[in-house]
Amino acid sequence: MRRKIVAGNWKMNGSKDLSEKLVGYVRSEAGSLDNDVEVVIIPPVIYIKDVLEQARNVVSVGVQNVGQWQSGAYTGEVSAEMAKDAGCRYALVGHSERRQLFGETDEQVAEKVALVVSSGLTAIVCVGETLEEREAGQAEAVVAGQVRTGLSSVALGEWHNIVVAYEPVWAIGTGKTATSDDAQAMHAAIRDVLKGMGAPAEEISLLYGGSVKADNAAALFSEPDVDGGLIGGASLVAKEFMSICRSLPAGA
Ligand code: 13P
Repeated sequence: MRRKIVAGNWKMNGSKDLSEKLVGYVRSEAGSLDNDVEVVIIPPVIYIKDVLEQARNVVSVGVQNVGQWQSGAYTGEVSAEMAKDAGCRYALVGHSERRQLFGETDEQVAEKVALVVSSGLTAIVCVGETLEEREAGQAEAVVAGQVRTGLSSVALGEWHNIVVAYEPVWAIGTGKTATSDDAQAMHAAIRDVLKGMGAPAEEISLLYGGSVKADNAAALFSEPDVDGGLIGGASLVAKEFMSICRSLPAGA
């Protein structure tokens, strides 16, 4: 049985006030979800403590990025162990904004995944093709490469701490969503790649991200290989985020 997850990535948005109000609301509603979905909030690192206070173990908390070193003279960085120590359960690795704006490579993703997993956190590893790559017919090959290299450091007993999020770059923050068929096709392809790597692919949760909203979540989540979502903009709006959480079918 795969974990069903809806995670809200706040990116560089939010405030103390939002941490209190939105997370308080999400916590009060999450208790009554009847579809076993694990709700995760991934705020800017400076608000993790505020979000944890409101989350009270009903909602899980994650960090948006970790440094690629264990500790030391890396001003501005936060380690996976620190995130774990602070109370996080998840860490995003390799978000397309980190890849595009900060030059993060698949090799760095692999190093971070190793640190995240060894610290006891679950890594949500983000992959996805650009519009040019999709139009050139390379989407599956690009994503397969990101999965193979980005997860090359995962040992056999560690796969239960891996979640993969497919986020086509052209769908992020654009209002353009992959069709349910396209999302399903890519998720099935990712599962095949994982199988080929010797991973227990049927047990690994695959999330879809990219302009998921309350009105398209149910169709995406009804696909057999879509185990939940990674939500950006809509995770900043309490009611919409909860409506997305409710869209996951029970027992899927
Ligand atoms: P949007 O939902 O705003 O498109 O963002 C998706 C995303 O990047 C989540 O990590």
